[in-house]
Amino acid sequence: MTKTAAIILAAGKGTRMHSPHAKAWHAVAQRPMIKWVESACRAAGIDKIIAVVGHRQDELRAVLGDSVLYAEQKELLGTGHAVMQAMPAAAEVDTVIILSGDVPLIQGETIQKALQFHKAEGNAVTVMTAALENPTGYGRIVRDMDGQLLCITEQKDADAKTLQIKEVNSGMYCFRREALEQALQAVRADNAQGEYYLTDTIAILRAAGERTGAYCMEDAAEMGGVNDMLQLYEVDCIMRKRIAMRHMANGVHIWNMENTYIAPEVEIAAGAEIRPGCILNGNTKIAENAIVGPNTTLENCTVGMGTDIVETVAKDAVIGKNVHVGPFAYIRPGSQIGDNCKVGDFVEIKNATLGDCTKVSHLTYVGDADVGQKVNFGCGTVTVNYDGKIKHRTSIGNNAFIGCNTNLVAPVSVGDGAYIAAGSTITDAVPEETLAIARARQVIKENWTDKRNR
Ligand code: UD1
Ligand code: CA
Repeated sequence: MTKTAAIILAAGKGTRMHSPHAKAWHAVAQRPMIKWVESACRAAGIDKIIAVVGHRQDELRAVLGDSVLYAEQKELLGTGHAVMQAMPAAAEVDTVIILSGDVPLIQGETIQKALQFHKAEGNAVTVMTAALENPTGYGRIVRDMDGQLLCITEQKDADAKTLQIKEVNSGMYCFRREALEQALQAVRADNAQGEYYLTDTIAILRAAGERTGAYCMEDAAEMGGVNDMLQLYEVDCIMRKRIAMRHMANGVHIWNMENTYIAPEVEIAAGAEIRPGCILNGNTKIAENAIVGPNTTLENCTVGMGTDIVETVAKDAVIGKNVHVGPFAYIRPGSQIGDNCKVGDFVEIKNATLGDCTKVSHLTYVGDADVGQKVNFGCGTVTVNYDGKIKHRTSIGNNAFIGCNTNLVAPVSVGDGAYIAAGSTITDAVPEETLAIARARQVIKENWTDKRNR
């Protein structure tokens, strides 16, 4: 049985990003770049993954957790030096695949194909390459008269003729482990950048009479590297398009994929419609025929069948079937909205349960509350849940009617079928089937205006 390990290089400073963060920590389609590379390895069936970390490794370790092994590169002396740090952790494998934390579009299937090619050819090293219209910045693939791979020359070390070459190094390679180990010992830092280049191992292996090959990738887009913020944007556009097209193939109507941001784990059922300006994050699940957007942000939300959500922000919430949400609602963590509800404009729901058919149509705050079915909230209701020290809950029974501009000072309860008169400040329990009026009685002063003007 041949064993394979993947080494993901991610220790570099990412100077051209001009960002205080680790380069591979930056997100593409709402997922850190290094996570994309990790998931491509998993999809290719490679479970031994070694991340080489250095600069801002705290961020990368926070993102990857203990799902991978780590090798620390204390001094950033180049890609060859980075790989050396990971070799002890790969001691028992036959094949090493090297990937880059800043090349996130690579797919598991492509890694598999490259590995198959590498083994079938019996190569010591197989470089994954692609032909680019604009090869600027990449290492060039130099072949001999017979088309055999000779060496890789970095942009900064290349002469005018070499710069003409369009076939470039993707920064991804398959190596026979023990050939890589030997070649690394011969790498020297005698180049324009004074670094130990991993790319030098190709010429070294070739000189040692080993077979060196190139696997030309079918889709050059998969090798798009991120060295600056503009490339981060370009790679993000490609990844978002890939995700949007997957949903479209499943029958989701996406109005404008350029302006839609769907995280990779989001599930959307056929017949749902995603309108422009939506950001769908985390484990959000959207059921059939739901309409989301425009301009809606959902994070870890479940949205029921036929529900529409307009210009809204919701997080960690479950929203039932045939619910109307928004425009301009804010649904916060711990909220559960039943079926056939309405959560209208300028309504905030926090850590609250709304039973089926309950309507909170406008300008209302429902926080820390357990609300029954078919409750009607008048405009401007507030659950007064905070006494300055702790939060208290409000409970409201089925079929209750909360008049406009009511304050419900928690802890307080309103019974089934109870009515509250508009403008009430409720501080005591309201029994079921009663009417509570908690406001001063209106006084009329006759001829008051006339007296004042005199
Ligand atoms: C590298 C390749 C180049 C290839 C390109 C593809 C070398 C010498 N050059 O160039 O041929 O076309 O990738 O994208 O390998 N890193 C470390 N430690 C270091 C230096 C780099 O871990 O000391 C990591 C970086 O964090 C990054 C990756 O290695 O994830 C590539 O480094 P980068 O500096 O971006 O190399 P390129 O100049 O893009
Ligand atoms: Ca790079």
